[in-house]
Amino acid sequence: MATTDQDLTLRPMRAADRERVLEICRDVWDGRDYIPRVFDDWLADAGASFQAAEIDGVVVGIQRVRPYAPGLVWYEGLRVASTHRRRGLARAMFASAIAEAKAQGFREMRLATGNPDAVRLFEAGGFSRLVDARWWRGHRLEGGEPARMPDPLEAGKLWPGMENSPGIELYHGVVPDFNGARDLGAAELKRLATIGMLRAGPGGRAIVGLREPWGQSLAVAFVAGRGGALRELLMSLRFEADADGLDHVTVTLPRDHPAADDLAASGYDLANDEDSSYIYGLQL
Ligand SMILES: CC(C)(COP(=O)(O)OP(=O)(O)OC[C@H]1O[C@@H](n2cnc3c(N)ncnc32)[C@H](O)[C@@H]1OP(=O)(O)O)[C@@H](O)C(=O)NCCC(=O)NCCS
Repeated sequence: MATTDQDLTLRPMRAADRERVLEICRDVWDGRDYIPRVFDDWLADAGASFQAAEIDGVVVGIQRVRPYAPGLVWYEGLRVASTHRRRGLARAMFASAIAEAKAQGFREMRLATGNPDAVRLFEAGGFSRLVDARWWRGHRLEGGEPARMPDPLEAGKLWPGMENSPGIELYHGVVPDFNGARDLGAAELKRLATIGMLRAGPGGRAIVGLREPWGQSLAVAFVAGRGGALRELLMSLRFEADADGLDHVTVTLPRDHPAADDLAASGYDLANDEDSSYIYGLQL
């Protein structure tokens, strides 16, 4: 923290910070930052810690730490005003967030990023890359049966057949959901089945877990299984998108995962050849 301004203070975000936060976000991602859209919800969410970083009474940075599963916190919304970058502010804010999560007894902090600058920052802070995610897209298709939804009892029993499926190790035990990456395992399959977010292929030989979509799509967070059963499941998701009036299916898949062949064979295209999106984790 050597280069940190001495008088940096972190405090809870307030409604009165809104204009300043919008100003800070204006030059992030060519003005397409999502923070302005979620600011009010984040402010209202007492279950998470949404913080403003101040120097001499002026907000120069923001961040949020959100508990999202037992023992797990999600780090998000890190922004430093463009006038104040490269002074170690992000590093100091982030270190404080880690210390707080540790003090509160959390087991692990996870986050998602695609920004190479932030990747350097997080790796220097000891975070490990858990998933190198790519996005595939398959358009809605008319005329077939939507995928089957296993009940929670069946879901829990599906995991032993999946935990050694090809490419599963590329998930490093986490579901690459960019709103909060949970542990991948039997308990997660059960949870997803309970909320109607799990789909199974023929004979339970392939499964996918859904996540909350960002747009007009059916969004898949992870894929397990292989061959014909997986291809059939991937096709049935395209039928489901059609039945639900959604434009397409989006699938998050780790780089070099063998299911890429099954996606291509089921009419899906790689949607982000250029950019990278990663899930990182730090044991606290
Ligand atoms: C990423 C961001 C938060 C960094 O804030 P910052 O206060 O400038 O970061 P710091 O000064 O604490 O930098 C810490 C380290 O991060 C890395 N880093 C930060 N900005 C960098 C840049 N422009 N180029 C290369 N490395 C960079 C460096 O390793 C740096 O250490 P160093 O200065 O000793 O080389 C800021 O640039 C920002 O708000 N960007 C836009 C929003 C964004 O992408 N947020 C992250 C989303 S997960």
